[in-house]
Amino acid sequence: MAAEVIYGKQLAEQIRQEMKEEVATLSEAGIYPKLVVVIVGEDPASLSYVRGKQRASENIGMSSELMELPEDTSQTKLLDIITRLNEDESVHGILVQLPLPEQIMEQKVIESIDPSKDVDGFHPINIGRLMTGQETFYPCTPFGIVVMLKRANISIEGKHVVIIGRSNLVGKPVGQLLLNEHATVTYCHSRTKDLKDYTKKADILIVAAGKAGMISGEDITEGTVVIDVGVNRVDGKLTGDVDFDSASQKASHITPVPKGVGPMTITMLLHNTIKAAKWIHQ
Ligand code: GUN
Repeated sequence: MAAEVIYGKQLAEQIRQEMKEEVATLSEAGIYPKLVVVIVGEDPASLSYVRGKQRASENIGMSSELMELPEDTSQTKLLDIITRLNEDESVHGILVQLPLPEQIMEQKVIESIDPSKDVDGFHPINIGRLMTGQETFYPCTPFGIVVMLKRANISIEGKHVVIIGRSNLVGKPVGQLLLNEHATVTYCHSRTKDLKDYTKKADILIVAAGKAGMISGEDITEGTVVIDVGVNRVDGKLTGDVDFDSASQKASHITPVPKGVGPMTITMLLHNTIKAAKWIHQ
């Protein structure tokens, strides 16, 4: 039977509409959530991402600022800018677009952001809070996946979730979030032997490996929920890590690429910025 397709794009639009109302209510109370996005250099893909983030903020009535810094910006200069943003009470969320040029140590930058403004959820303090099951800013793509599953009425408790990919941005945190939701979690990665033995046993399969079409219908069992986090360009066309045509013949639910997980990421960034603004004014 053909799978039900979960369109993150539609869901994201619905959630953004809800957030637009929340931003309007907050501004009546004198709270104006503000996001600052910092980008170093002119990588076209990164520029396109950050402009998308800025546009999405503006569309829900949220104040947003884009700081475009030259490719040769020093680490000291970037850290100075972050210190200023940390101290600026009108700024609630700070996002430094990754990757950064090689003269800048990414981890140093991540750790310089005030954890209460870390809307990416990348600061070790926020990761620690996630690990210990505390309320915090959750990384946007993993959080978007959990929200998608919940809004599609897919139960998580007791389910066997298999994750392919162990990145700090997606694989590791999505597993932790789902563990907190009482799933049984298995992590697989490039060194996993007999990958198919694991994917076949998944109730929910999350593929975040960055390898176009690596999972197809023959790797899953009937009724699996398939979440494709891959963003690959093949012959100029955006494609996921899952071969949609064959997998959708067996999956119960599947996310497409594009229009699947991607739009949820920005939506969760907006959610985190609103949360940051509300926390400060509590
Ligand atoms: N580069 C690609 N994805 C992301 C993200 O979610 N946050 C940041 N800061 N940089 C990214």
